[in-house]
This record gives sequence, C-alpha cells and structure tokens, in this order.
Amino acid sequence: MAQIIDGKAVSAAVKEEVAQEAARLKEENGLKVGLAVVIVGNNSASRVYVNNKKKACEAVGFQSYEYALDENTTQEQLLDLVDVLNRDDKVNGILVQLPLPEHIDEKAVINAISPEKDVDAFHPVNVGKIMIGEYSFLPCTPAGVMRLIESTGVDITGKNCVVVGRSNIVGKPQAMLLLQKNGTVTICHSKTKDLKEKCLSADILVVAIGRAKFITGDMIKEGAVVIDVGMDRDENGKLCGDVDFESAEKRAGYITPVPGGVGPMTIAMLMKNTLTAAKQQAGIE
Ligand code: GUN
Repeated sequence: MAQIIDGKAVSAAVKEEVAQEAARLKEENGLKVGLAVVIVGNNSASRVYVNNKKKACEAVGFQSYEYALDENTTQEQLLDLVDVLNRDDKVNGILVQLPLPEHIDEKAVINAISPEKDVDAFHPVNVGKIMIGEYSFLPCTPAGVMRLIESTGVDITGKNCVVVGRSNIVGKPQAMLLLQKNGTVTICHSKTKDLKEKCLSADILVVAIGRAKFITGDMIKEGAVVIDVGMDRDENGKLCGDVDFESAEKRAGYITPVPGGVGPMTIAMLMKNTLTAAKQQAGIE
C-alpha cells in the first residue's frame, strides 16, 4: 500500500518559509510584497482560484491587489491595465487568471506582462530560461510537483520519469525540470502508442492529461512515485484526479491524493515566486 504524499503539509511548510522571509523583508527593508491578480468575466472556477490566491497572500503577509474586470472588457483595456501594473513599484507580481474570454488573445496578454513580474512563468522569456536552466521563476504547478517528489526522499537521478500530458503549463515544463534533476524523461500524450507499457516503466509518474481516472493500477510499476495533477469529476460528480486512486495506491510506493495533493502546492509556489520577484526587483538576495 502506497504512502500518501500530503500536499497540504508540504504546501504549509513552503508558505511558512515564505511568510518568514516576507516578514524579514518588511522589517529589514521596509518592503511589503505585492501581488496583482486580474480576473476578467464570471468564470466560477476562476473566481474560486482567485479568492484562494488572495487568501494565501494575506496568510503570508503580502498585499494583494485584485482587478475584477467585466466580461466585456476589451483586449486594449486589459493591455492598458497590464501596462499600468508593469510600471507600479508596489506590484511585484502580476497574475492574469486564465482562461480569458474568447475575444481576448491570451498570448498577447501574457506577452505584455513584464518578465520580471511574470510569477506564473508563462512569458516566452521565462519559458526559454527554463529550457537553459537559468530561471528565476518556475511555473507553479510543475515546481510544486518537484517539491512533492523531493518530500518523498526519492532521488530523481537516473530514474525513469514519465510525464503524461504535454501542455505548456504543466507537461512540457515538468519534463524539463525532471531532466534538470537527471531523470530519464519520456513525455506521453493522447496519441502515444503503448501508453500502458510506457507508464509501467516509470519510477516516477506525473499525470496531467485532464481525464478522470485515466491511469489505472495495472499501468503503475510496483513502488513508483505517482503524482496526480488532475482535477476532474467522476461519474457521480465527485472530485477526482487523472489517476484511479483506489487501484493505483495498491501498486505505488508514494501517491498524491486528489484533493490535497498537487492542488495546494500551486498556490504555495505562486507565493514563493512573488517573493522572489520582490527580492529581485529590490536587488536583495
Ligand atoms: N488558470 C488555471 N490555472 C492557472 C494558473 O496557474 N495561472 C493562471 N494565470 N491562470 C490559471
């Protein structure tokens, strides 16, 4: 039976580190870290995420600035706001919650955020830096996954790492981070042949494919570390992951639950990136 990786506990430890450092910055440098969160329209899931980000800011002692814009906001108006935030010294990090309404070009908005304030690490400059291993910010979910793997004590060096999913936000950067830690990395996706065989080779399996209970116990190597990035609903409408937890936990060595695994890590890593941004902007190490 697998050991459960407690994302709530690991994320609490990250937030505690950030809170202590934020308090030190305030005391020694008179600096209050600021995060601007922009939400456009009425997407209910986005609303929940944004509220959680605001709460996390409060918990670690950051100032959050929320901009809740109307669904009909034009791309130009949004770009104007990003420009104002780029030039506002109180704002160390800028996060524009995705998805945006269809009439707005997400790429144009991401590209407009100053790379120094891009705490999501979505800007092409920051994406490129990850490729060459010279980054300031890591995208929050893959960075959180790395912390969870680290918490198991399993060394990535030389291990077969399989990432299921190839999104720009999770799969691709996840593969790069595992590679940087000397894993032997395979990226699988919806068109991959022999997916079961590839998953069975994984000492470390990260699943971010967006399909409920897609990976079942028979696809998991005995003793593997299994990280489930999925946030899906099962046939009864109950929250579940991309991994069928019940069958997978019988085979895995370590496994993340959904909820309570990767989810809480994403916001903790966002707080860490915002702190890093503030320190860099102030020239503090
Ligand atoms: N929507 C869902 N996840 C994210 C995220 O990590 N960042 C932003 N900006 N939007 C999201």
